[in-house]
Amino acid sequence: MDAAGFRRLWDQIAPIGRADSGGYLRFSWSEADLALRAWFDAQAAERGLRTETDRNGNRYAHWDPEPGAAADGRAVLTGSHFDSVPHGGAYDGPLGIVSALLAVDELRAAGFTPARPVVIGAFTEEEGGRFGVPCLGSRLMAGAIDPDRARALTDADGTTFAEAMRAAGADPDALGPDPDRLAATAAFVELHVEQGRALDAPVGVASAIWPHGRWRMDFTGAGDHAGTTRLPDRRDPMLTFAFAVLAARKEARLAGGLATVGRVEAVPNATNAIASRVTAWLDARAPDEAVLAAILAGFESKVCERAARDGTGFAIAPESATPIVEFDAALRDRLADLLGGAPVLPTGAGHDAGVLAAHVPTAMLFVRNPTGVSHAPGEAASDEDCAAGVDALAAVLRELAC
Ligand code: GLV
Ligand code: MN
Ligand code: MN
Ligand code: MN
Repeated sequence: MDAAGFRRLWDQIAPIGRADSGGYLRFSWSEADLALRAWFDAQAAERGLRTETDRNGNRYAHWDPEPGAAADGRAVLTGSHFDSVPHGGAYDGPLGIVSALLAVDELRAAGFTPARPVVIGAFTEEEGGRFGVPCLGSRLMAGAIDPDRARALTDADGTTFAEAMRAAGADPDALGPDPDRLAATAAFVELHVEQGRALDAPVGVASAIWPHGRWRMDFTGAGDHAGTTRLPDRRDPMLTFAFAVLAARKEARLAGGLATVGRVEAVPNATNAIASRVTAWLDARAPDEAVLAAILAGFESKVCERAARDGTGFAIAPESATPIVEFDAALRDRLADLLGGAPVLPTGAGHDAGVLAAHVPTAMLFVRNPTGVSHAPGEAASDEDCAAGVDALAAVLRELAC
């Protein structure tokens, strides 16, 4: 397809949820998310696609085959997510949904009729940007999280996932595994902007996702006056926290993985008070499980030692874990061949495709990101590369839907 055609549809969602930073605030069930879902429905209606929301709040548009089509009735699922991290980039998620709509247009314009359903999915709370657990919609579908836990997850204002869902008109009582939907899916292909500096062709194919997880850390001490408490008398959790930030980086560097502390809250959060509590979240990722475990073990023991010296408390608890994902090798190779020997590359970023890969043959297509920036306003992709992504996705759907 031509770059201008991509841009025309892309521009329709560009203003939705855009912040002054140039990044996006598109949290699940927020006004922006609902506006994107309404836009998705309107696009589906324009194309005569049947829409549906599953029990976990994931939204779908179905391109159904003609009655009597030859295939076994199982669907080819494509799509991604609308939600963003705070001030995230434009492409992470929505690119996969917009590209899927355009790929359907392209296939129809070429006279293709699918022998099995082609379904475009928009997954809920992929980023965990509002409720903390990433890939919530796909985890629920796959039975990888207890629905009671999901219902009770809270956002920064104390609103639960169940309350937010209900306020948006969806039914949180229905949350739970959806084995029938998984069994009715022949393959899932998620197109996504590449999120590092790893792809120097317009389109690539994913080989694997690094194992990764999120941990909540609580540092506790004694709140006191910044001007009257002698240094030796302090039990300052901010000090232990500061040590932990450096320790995370050091352990990751020594082991060969990544560790990030990107979110922190202090109590009482006053310039002239020693904090009584610091809560922060660790994100750690590695090329394999052993390296990830080594980072965590080294980190935990160093921070415990340091907390004992500081007279502070330290507790760490997992919030989510994603094991290593090796995408279906046959499908990966088939798609790379189909796309003329497209580069095959792993990623450290998490995706719904990583969750569903345990249940359904799954593949990912990446579109080049010239800045290499993601989860920040500087995330980018050229219209030409996005158009090449649409062409690639159309070729893949044509291959899989006959
Ligand atoms: C989600 O995009 C993640 O990798 O954290
Ligand atoms: Mn994403
Ligand atoms: Mn993301
Ligand atoms: Mn992601």
